[in-house]
Amino acid sequence: MIIKLNVGSMPMNPIIEVKNVSKFFYRKNLFFKQQQKEHIQAVKDVSLSIFPGDVVGLVGESGSGKTTLGKLILGLIKLNSGNILIDNIDFKKARTKQKKQIRKNCRMIYQSLDASLNPGMKVLDIIKEPLDIHTHLSKEDKIKRIKEILISVNLDETFLNKLPNSLSGGEKRRVSIARALVVTPSIIIADEPLASLDASLRYQIIILLQEIIKKYSLTMIFISHDISSISHLCNKIIVMYNGNIVEINDTKELINGSIHHPYTKLLLSSMLDLNRKEIKNQEITIIDENIIGPEKNEGCDFVSNCPLYLKFSNNGKCLKEKPILKEISEKHLVQCHYVGSDNE
Ligand SMILES: Nc1ncnc2c1ncn2[C@@H]1O[C@H](COP(=O)(O)OP(=O)(O)O)[C@@H](O)[C@H]1O
Ligand SMILES: [Mg+2]
Repeated sequence: MIIKLNVGSMPMNPIIEVKNVSKFFYRKNLFFKQQQKEHIQAVKDVSLSIFPGDVVGLVGESGSGKTTLGKLILGLIKLNSGNILIDNIDFKKARTKQKKQIRKNCRMIYQSLDASLNPGMKVLDIIKEPLDIHTHLSKEDKIKRIKEILISVNLDETFLNKLPNSLSGGEKRRVSIARALVVTPSIIIADEPLASLDASLRYQIIILLQEIIKKYSLTMIFISHDISSISHLCNKIIVMYNGNIVEINDTKELINGSIHHPYTKLLLSSMLDLNRKEIKNQEITIIDENIIGPEKNEGCDFVSNCPLYLKFSNNGKCLKEKPILKEISEKHLVQCHYVGSDNE
């Protein structure tokens, strides 16, 4: 199923289409002497469409597959099955020139500042690198462009000769944003750009992101644990759990309590701290140790933590059958057998 996240009423083509995409990793298990490999399914049969101008908040606990999905969309890692189309071009089938164009057009703001800002490179060279790779501008034009982009992120040319270790956390984040923006992309995936910043810096970066989204007409996937920044920036929220998309809704609706998946309730309560009392009363946090989790790729991944399963007990359906992401209203989709059933 393709999920439509269309902000406006005008019909338009999606800028990002993810169709039944799965990704697994093999990890060596150090506890076994034999070369035993652990199979990790990081993204499970995920489909979605994102439209130009969408700013989508991607949330979920650590390890739920958010970064992997972001890297798959940008073609930074290979998928195992499914298709991803950017501006109608399938990355798998794209020619070298088209792949280069997609890489220029879709940029990532990486979570780790230390990993993304080479400590031996000056700010000038850090921001210039993508211009060297993706453009044929003259040296003078590159410098001009770098100075312009520094101003856009509220820095100035006095930073050009500085090394990353002489910058504050907020300045480093601004440089990483400038590096992503310098080649004028239309899609940005910002992977937890507020992590490790204190509250006042977080606010400044949110304002900056808001400005650049508007100024450069960006489509953005914003991965974050910070619900207040998501409510500031994003028109939609996608909730991931264990490699699945379990719920999608309009940000305002979701924050105002239009939540159907029990995992979203749990996650939002920890993010928001707002409905904690209500959620406690609903005993959302029950974990039944007697329920054996589903077989690989069968049943709902959330079943062993699910309070609805305890109430619902639908002849084992939750254990046997993987729920699909159902549309329950125009902008609201939920992956749960219970939702929409007679028992709801
Ligand atoms: N390169 C990799 N090699 C092995 N396992 C990985 C790799 N990248 C991610 N994973 C695993 O895939 C799962 C999803 O990871 P990730 O996408 O980073 O989650 P999130 O960004 O939501 O925290 C995790 O179990 C993680 O350990
Ligand atoms: Mg991550």
